[in-house]
Amino acid sequence: MKKRRGAKVADALVFYCAVMTLCLRLSVSQSNTTTTVPVKVGVVLDLSHTTAKIGLSCINMSLSDFYASHSHYNTRLLLHVTDSHSHVITAASQAIDLIKVEQVQAIIGPFTTMEANFVISLGDRAHVPIVTFSATSPSLASLRSPYFFRAAQNDSAQVNAIGAIVQAFGWKNVVPIYTGNDYGKGIIPFLTNPLQQVYVQIPYQSSISASATDEDIKAELYKLMTMQTRVFVVHMTPNPGERLFRIAYEIGMMNFGYVWIVTDGLGNEVNSLGSSVIDSMQGVLGVRTYVPKTERHDDFKVRWRRKFVKDNPTLVHTDLNVFGNWAYDAATALAMAVEKAGAKNLGFDMRNNASGNFSDLLKLGVSENGENLSKALSETRFSGMSGEFSVIEGQLQASTFEIINVNGKGERQVGFWTPGKGITRDLNFTSTSTAYSSSRNNLKPIIWPGDTSSVPKGWDNPTNKKKTMRIGVPVKKGFTEFVKVTHDRSTNTTDVTGFCIDVFKAVLAVLPYAVPYEFIPFEKPDGEPAGTYDELVNQVSYGNLDAVVGDTTITAARSNEVDFIMPYTESGGTMIVLLVKNKHKSPWNFLKPLTWDLWVTTAFSFIYVAFVVWVLEHRINDAFRGPPSHQIGTSLWFSFSILVFAHREKIVSNYARFVVIMWVFVVLILTQSYTASLASLLTVHQLRPSVTDVNQLIKNKLNVGYHSGSFVYGMLKKMGFQDSQLIPFGSPEQCDELFTQGSAKGGIDAAFDEMPNVKLFLATYCSKYASMAPPTFRTDGYGYVFPKGSPLVADVSRGILNVTQ
Ligand SMILES: *[C@@H]1O[C@H](CO)[C@@H](O)[C@H](O)[C@H]1NC(C)=O
Ligand SMILES: *[C@@H]1O[C@H](CO)[C@@H](O)[C@H](O)[C@H]1NC(C)=O
Ligand SMILES: *[C@@H]1O[C@H](CO)[C@@H](O)[C@H](O)[C@H]1NC(C)=O
Ligand SMILES: *[C@@H]1O[C@H](CO)[C@@H](O)[C@H](O)[C@H]1NC(C)=O
Ligand SMILES: *[C@@H]1O[C@H](CO)[C@@H](O)[C@H](O)[C@H]1NC(C)=O
Ligand SMILES: *[C@@H]1O[C@H](CO)[C@@H](O)[C@H](O)[C@H]1NC(C)=O
Ligand SMILES: *[C@@H]1O[C@H](CO)[C@@H](O)[C@H](O)[C@H]1NC(C)=O
Ligand SMILES: *[C@@H]1O[C@H](CO)[C@@H](O)[C@H](O)[C@H]1NC(C)=O
Repeated sequence: MKKRRGAKVADALVFYCAVMTLCLRLSVSQSNTTTTVPVKVGVVLDLSHTTAKIGLSCINMSLSDFYASHSHYNTRLLLHVTDSHSHVITAASQAIDLIKVEQVQAIIGPFTTMEANFVISLGDRAHVPIVTFSATSPSLASLRSPYFFRAAQNDSAQVNAIGAIVQAFGWKNVVPIYTGNDYGKGIIPFLTNPLQQVYVQIPYQSSISASATDEDIKAELYKLMTMQTRVFVVHMTPNPGERLFRIAYEIGMMNFGYVWIVTDGLGNEVNSLGSSVIDSMQGVLGVRTYVPKTERHDDFKVRWRRKFVKDNPTLVHTDLNVFGNWAYDAATALAMAVEKAGAKNLGFDMRNNASGNFSDLLKLGVSENGENLSKALSETRFSGMSGEFSVIEGQLQASTFEIINVNGKGERQVGFWTPGKGITRDLNFTSTSTAYSSSRNNLKPIIWPGDTSSVPKGWDNPTNKKKTMRIGVPVKKGFTEFVKVTHDRSTNTTDVTGFCIDVFKAVLAVLPYAVPYEFIPFEKPDGEPAGTYDELVNQVSYGNLDAVVGDTTITAARSNEVDFIMPYTESGGTMIVLLVKNKHKSPWNFLKPLTWDLWVTTAFSFIYVAFVVWVLEHRINDAFRGPPSHQIGTSLWFSFSILVFAHREKIVSNYARFVVIMWVFVVLILTQSYTASLASLLTVHQLRPSVTDVNQLIKNKLNVGYHSGSFVYGMLKKMGFQDSQLIPFGSPEQCDELFTQGSAKGGIDAAFDEMPNVKLFLATYCSKYASMAPPTFRTDGYGYVFPKGSPLVADVSRGILNVTQ
């Protein structure tokens, strides 16, 4: 009985427990199910694109993952997926439908920049946040809609990375090739800035219509082939980018010498391209957004692949790309924001269409929750698949770019670009150097088109139109060491040689690109110079010549018209004068050191000293006694022999000793000064310049010579010489001849020229002439002439430094 009652109690307890558990479970599951509110979200994607399919699967996975780990959330996003079929109008009408009929709270998409343009305005009006993960054109930001969110980087974030690559390899000209729509054109204004900062020019922009046929693309590529530039920046989505590379490959533009850089338009999707496209893209460089490798990301990739292949069995070779990560993060961000904004007012306020007289298209309500949802979205921060997610001014912030090189079966990472450090080999941020670098040494080895590792020069002789630089060279009779033009009648060729030409050729050899050129002598048909140097330089500013190479002096006046490179010779101009023999070479030179009054004073002094010593000594000293003639002789002898400190007579009187001490002291100073003066007099130059001062020439109206055709003439006129005083000479020999004649016979007494010529002249006639040590006038030496703003100036100057050092 007792046992039975015990069992009954136990049964009751078990039953009670079971009921309690059931109730608890019921209540819990009820509370979880009853409180979730479905929130409608539209998805407008162009599902003919593989990347859109990737995005959609990532959105789906994102929400599944998110609500699995946040099951306590009150809201659940309910997706309404539509396919825009690559039509801007379809996308727009679908967006209107979603807002009007479905009354969605937000729209993910649209896929392309062109579709986004209209949908963003629509969202702005209806206060429905538009969250795109793939419309990357910077032009969309100009719509300034607070309801537009870009869970992606805009295209202008990468332009500095492309600028750094171009700078790293020293290319001077770049041709952008882009799709002729909002997407393609959007990047161009942003791309020109960083290129101009590194002095890269864009000689041509190639716009290819999105609907261009293969024939159109081929025609455009053939046109590019005829130009000099061999560096192309391609900003395109896979269609028509794939076709562009296939055709470029077919017509031989993927060979050695060509450089292709793709923006993230193709770079981000390069791993989804077919193997035939990869084959035609061998050697292409590219940038793409870097996705940090995390365990979570690796795990996601595996799960995504399983799901994607199950949903799309035909797309087995497709890989996850950064758009998938952005789509994943966009969905997560939206789910978080919707929960934060609450699900109280999911309706639309229709009041605004009652009073207005709008067409049907614009009879949209205003989402009541829109403002709060948009605010919540802009404040959403979390660690997403593509890194830290936070939208600032409606956009994801710029991060790191990977530099890739298409090689073999796919792409290879060759380096990174970060806004702070520029190009780096790896992302080791602990490294000590903090400076921005754009050095090609920071990149891993690159295989260029044509399967080569040597860096293309980026500039080549165009295939048909020959655009060679026309380089003027001065023609002259003398000083041919600098430039010499010789005509060979038998072969009808002109040969240009000389120091300036040698330096120029050496500089071109070290330039990182090829410069085709031809020398054009500045001469009349009969071989005479066609004008002065100033006229030659002017030909460059008139555009008749592309450069002047020769002994052209850098002057301020000329530099107003043209650009000069760094001088490659010594600067300044000076005066050459004859050396004349020193006339003062007489046997009486030994008297020179002392003036005649000093000689006289000295003579009187020693007679006087002799007298004083005699007066003081002759009474007490035997040596000064005797016959008067002996006394006079001894006294004078004593006084004189002190000159050479050879006196033998003893002095007895203290007074006389005092006098002698004074005399010895005076004599010592006198002899020392005499010796020193005489020594310097004898070692002084036997030759001296005939003229030492320019003013002397002007005052005495002496003739001076100048190098004919050179700017020195103007300088001399400015110094105050008269025309009649100025006599031109063409060669060192002629100059020498003029000197021999002298001013009196129509020759010259001095000549003016620039340092390099003067040195040459003095080397020929070393002992006859001298130049004045400080240059008479300052110039900046010889420099080559280029048109104003020529990109070659900086490079050739740098080359000059390399060569002369
Ligand atoms: C994800 O896709 C599957 C079908 O492929 C669907 O059943 C599921 O509801 C989707 N999940 C979300 C959150 O949309
Ligand atoms: C139900 O919601 C509670 C919080 O409200 C949560 O702790 C619990 O995990 C949820 N249960 C399920 C089965 O999702
Ligand atoms: C606004 O227009 C829609 C149809 O486009 C209509 O259904 C709705 O009633 C209108 N709202 C008001 C307040 O008139
Ligand atoms: C609306 O437009 C129609 C003609 O398009 C016009 O007759 C009508 O007066 C307008 N109504 C208002 C309120 O402006
Ligand atoms: C928006 O948020 C504010 C406070 O954050 C709240 O007072 C307001 O009711 C919200 N509006 C809607 C439509 O939910
Ligand atoms: C594009 O993104 C970069 C980096 O986030 C930003 O600095 C820039 O302002 C953006 N450009 C536009 C037009 O939004
Ligand atoms: C970072 O640098 C250290 C030494 O400087 C090196 O051992 C390490 O492998 C580097 N890390 C990466 C990711 O390159
Ligand atoms: C020499 O060459 C020039 C062009 O370089 C040409 O105009 C001229 O006719 C040629 N003269 C002879 C004799 O071949």
